[in-house]
Amino acid sequence: MAPLTIASRALAREASKTATLRSVRALSTSSSLRDGNYSSPFKGNSKASKIPDWGSYMTKNSIGSNNLVSYFMVGAMGAITAAGAKSTVQEFLKNMSASADVLAMAKVEVDLNAIPEGKNVIIKWRGKPVFIRHRTQGEIDEANKIDVKSLRDPQADEDRVQKPEWLVMLGVCTHLGCVPIGEAGDFGGWFCPCHGSHYDISGRIRKGPAPLNLEVPEYEFPEDDKLIIG
Ligand code: FES
Repeated sequence: MAPLTIASRALAREASKTATLRSVRALSTSSSLRDGNYSSPFKGNSKASKIPDWGSYMTKNSIGSNNLVSYFMVGAMGAITAAGAKSTVQEFLKNMSASADVLAMAKVEVDLNAIPEGKNVIIKWRGKPVFIRHRTQGEIDEANKIDVKSLRDPQADEDRVQKPEWLVMLGVCTHLGCVPIGEAGDFGGWFCPCHGSHYDISGRIRKGPAPLNLEVPEYEFPEDDKLIIG
């Protein structure tokens, strides 16, 4: 037991010495800091002033430069965004605009020299038949002699044509959409066999269930012998 006690005491003494040395070191460091002998970036002695002052590491106009960089970045991003938006809108409008073949179908050009007087021609426009009649003077006179007020769908012949000799109408019966037959019916115009509607030489309904005259589409004569429908 005795040797063990001696060793324990020796160990205790060594531990006490080590603790004393650490304490002295700690006191020395604290004292240095307290006395201001320690060279550090902290200025002054108050707690608030212990914030590092890195001023000496900064250029005089560093704040302004940072702002300039920020403004430049904001401006550049804005310009890029605007350019992207413009491109997107242009692409969208380009896709929305009608292609050449669609535009071609929207209008149909007809050579009027190919239609003799007193004859009908049927062309297809936007998926519908269009009747073009080169009327004779007798047919024009007949279309004008009727009392407009007596018609189911009162309309003067002159309000249905741009040139009296050319009658242009959609070939769709206003009853249920059949295609009437030309140069037929009780009034020398068109006859719809589906339910028996009779149209006169101006395409006005005269007899049968159809409620309205045959519709006149948009058209123009860019030249004397040329007709454009649509
Ligand atoms: Fe022409 Fe009925 S569809 S008369």
